[in-house]
Amino acid sequence: MGTNKSTNNAANVAVNNVTNRSEIKEVLVSREKIAEKVRELGQIISKDYEGKELVLIGVLKGAFIFLADLIREITIPVDMDFIAVSSYADGTKSSGVVRLIKDMDVSISDKHVLIVEDIVDTGLTLNHLKNLFSTRGPKSVKICSIFDKPSRRLVDINVDYKGIEIPNEFVIGYGLDFAERYRNLPDLCILDPNVYRHD
Ligand code: IMP
Repeated sequence: MGTNKSTNNAANVAVNNVTNRSEIKEVLVSREKIAEKVRELGQIISKDYEGKELVLIGVLKGAFIFLADLIREITIPVDMDFIAVSSYADGTKSSGVVRLIKDMDVSISDKHVLIVEDIVDTGLTLNHLKNLFSTRGPKSVKICSIFDKPSRRLVDINVDYKGIEIPNEFVIGYGLDFAERYRNLPDLCILDPNVYRHD
């Protein structure tokens, strides 16, 4: 309301045309491929949890876009909430320390919980969260992640609903950041290592 439409369109083109940005090495997974996978996951989850009380718990900040897309592909009644954790300090390597910044507001007691994550890397974050949630009396705790970097795993964690496997690259976009930037890129992109390597 009251916004200049042509200005908005120009801004969208600038943000979405990722290939013009020098910090981006390449598009690894296109927005179309991501949407297709999200649809597929939504259908499987809807079938698996039919008749059950399901709560989706999104892990902020990275999973906010995936959760928003996924929940609209789920056709059964579902509750949702977010938690916020931090395992990376402005860098590209996991610190291994998972800090709970914001806990959930809903009760998961007697409910089926699906943790919604952007990417599984070392697996430390999800391992920690799964253990924590299991102490709160849920009927089940499962994991759904849109991206997976299996080559980097430090703990053996089962990803029940897995989206797209990617190689060992630092990626940005579709909610994933580098130092809080690039979350708004619609495609999953490889960040140019020159952005974070200063040697
Ligand atoms: P893990 O505990 O090592 O599995 O790390 C999980 C979290 O690290 C994810 O939720 C992301 O926020 C972040 N992360 C892991 N790999 C990447 C990446 O390639 N780009 C951006 N964030 C990442």
